[in-house]
Amino acid sequence: MTVSYTVPGLSTDDAEQVVAALQGRLSAYNDLHLTLKHVHWNVVGPHFIAVHEMIDPQVDLVRGYADEVAERIATLGASPKGTPGAIIADRTWDDYSVGRDTVLAHLGALDLVYNGVIEANREVMALTDDLDLVTQDMIIAHTAELEKFQWFVRAHLEDMRGRLSTAGADSESAAADDARADG
Ligand SMILES: [Fe+2]
Repeated sequence: MTVSYTVPGLSTDDAEQVVAALQGRLSAYNDLHLTLKHVHWNVVGPHFIAVHEMIDPQVDLVRGYADEVAERIATLGASPKGTPGAIIADRTWDDYSVGRDTVLAHLGALDLVYNGVIEANREVMALTDDLDLVTQDMIIAHTAELEKFQWFVRAHLEDMRGRLSTAGADSESAAADDARADG
């Protein structure tokens, strides 16, 4: 993505690298807030209402983060891509795989979803350490809240010894199976 002007003190070459990283986060956040609504609608069984209602504030937060990232891309002189097609073109992860299922199955799968989003955010934090501290500061703030919400998810999957039922799971369906079996 080429930019012809950017913020003062940043080269257009550096801005292009930052924009490319931010476009990945924009599509990840757009995917995440849609996926969270899917969970909100599909979770069933005991503790339904607690998890159904736990999800919505995070949807609002992540939608706000997508807005901040998109506006940072525009501020840097580029065009944010916010269409459904952009999400699919940008994504390096699979579509969320769990349909109507229990609280534990969804939270097990969501634990893995958050692993992916947070790991990628940390890569952008490392990249922007040299390139653009303003962008880095924004992503740091997002990551702190995403990590806190992942703790809300993990608190449902943790036993009294502090072990996660999803430990070692390498796919959403495996994590959902492990969490379901533990419940
Ligand atoms: Fe709702």
